[in-house]
Amino acid sequence: MNIPFVDLTTQYESIKNEIDSAISEVISKTAFISGPYAKTFESAFAEFCNVKHCVGVGNGTDALFIALKALGIGKGDEVITAANSFIATSEAITMTGAKVVFVDINPQTYNMDPNKLEDYLKKCLKPNASSLTLRPKAVIPVHLYGQPVDMDPILDIAKKYDLKVVEDAAQAHGAVYKGRQIGSIGDMACFSFYPGKNLGAYGDAGAIVTNDEDLAIKARMIANHGRVEKYNHEMEGVNSRLDGLQAAILDVKLRHLPEWTESRRKNAYLYNKHLKDTDLITPVEIDDVKAVYHLYVVRVKKELRQKLQERLKSKGIATGIHYPITLPNLKAYKYLNHREDDFPEATRASQEILSLPMFPELTESQIEYIAEKIKAFSF
Ligand SMILES: Cc1ncc(COP(=O)(O)O)c(C=O)c1O
Repeated sequence: MNIPFVDLTTQYESIKNEIDSAISEVISKTAFISGPYAKTFESAFAEFCNVKHCVGVGNGTDALFIALKALGIGKGDEVITAANSFIATSEAITMTGAKVVFVDINPQTYNMDPNKLEDYLKKCLKPNASSLTLRPKAVIPVHLYGQPVDMDPILDIAKKYDLKVVEDAAQAHGAVYKGRQIGSIGDMACFSFYPGKNLGAYGDAGAIVTNDEDLAIKARMIANHGRVEKYNHEMEGVNSRLDGLQAAILDVKLRHLPEWTESRRKNAYLYNKHLKDTDLITPVEIDDVKAVYHLYVVRVKKELRQKLQERLKSKGIATGIHYPITLPNLKAYKYLNHREDDFPEATRASQEILSLPMFPELTESQIEYIAEKIKAFSF
C-alpha cells in the first residue's frame, strides 16, 4: 500500500466543482489582486477566528514580518520565539531589524516553555546582562503541529514584562485554547495558507488577524506599499497582498475546514489507539484545548529513527521530520554562537521526532496499515 505524507489531490477531487467555478468566476471578473474576493474571504476568516479584523497577505512569512512592523518592532529590539519552529518565524524577526532570541520548549507539547521565557527575561533585567542595549519587545509563541501553546502563562509574562504577543498560527487554523480561538489570543496572529496547511491555498497566501483596528489599518498599509489610496504613500511598505484567485479558493475551503479538522482529530485518536502498545511516544493535548493536528508527530529513540523511517518507506509509507535541526543550531544562526545544549529539550526532540502521514482523507485502514508496520518493527 502506498500512503503519501499529504494528499492534496483527493481533497481537490472532493470539492472540484466548487473550486473550479470559484476560479473561473475570479478570472471572468479579473479581480486578481486584493478586491472583492479577498474582502469576502477576509470577513469570513475574521469571523472564523473570532476577531474583528483580517488582513490577507502574500504568505505566512510576510504576515509575521508585517505584523511585527505594524507593532513598531525594528532595530534595537529583541523578539523571542521557540527554538523549534520553521525558519520563517525567526526570519521575519530578523527582517524587521530586530534580534531573534530563542527559548527552549516543553518536551511534551513541543511548544515554548513559559518558564524558559521568564528565565530569559529575568536574565535581561540583571544589571550586567549582555544584551542591555537591546530591549525585548515581543514574543512569538508558535502553535506548532496544530497544538495550542499554553497561552495563559505567556500572556501573564508578556504583561509583566511589557511584551507584545504575536501568535504564529501557521499550523493551527481552527485550534482552540480554553474556549478561545487560536488567533484571537495575542495582540496579533499570523496564518499561512501554504497548500499543505490545514487551510491551504493553491499557491502562496497568508493572513494577519487582530482585534485592534489601528494595527489592522497599519498592517494593511504596510502590505500595500505603505498606502491607503492609490499613489498616496504615507510610508514605504512591501508588496504582499492576497490574490483574488487564492482568496476565492480559500473561501470555498474554509467552509469545509471544520469537517476536515474533525477528520484530522479522529485520525489522531485512531493513531493513538493503534500505537498504544508500541515504544513510540504519541502526541499529548494539554487540558482544555482542541489541537488540529497539522502534523501527527511521534517520538522514537534517536538511534532507531532513521531505521524506522526507512522501514516505513520500504512499505510505501511516507514520513517527515519537522524539524531535523533546531533553529539555533542552523548554520543561518551560527552568528548567535549557541551551543547544542543551550536548548536541550528542543535539540533532543529534533533527534527523536517523526511525523506520520496526516491529512483529513486518511482512512482507518491506512492508519491500521501504518500501525501494523510500526508494530512489526523491532524497537
Ligand atoms: C510555523 C510556521 N510559521 C510560518 C510559516 C511561513 O508560512 P509561509 O510558508 O506561508 O510563508 C510556516 C510555513 O511553512 C510555518 O510552518
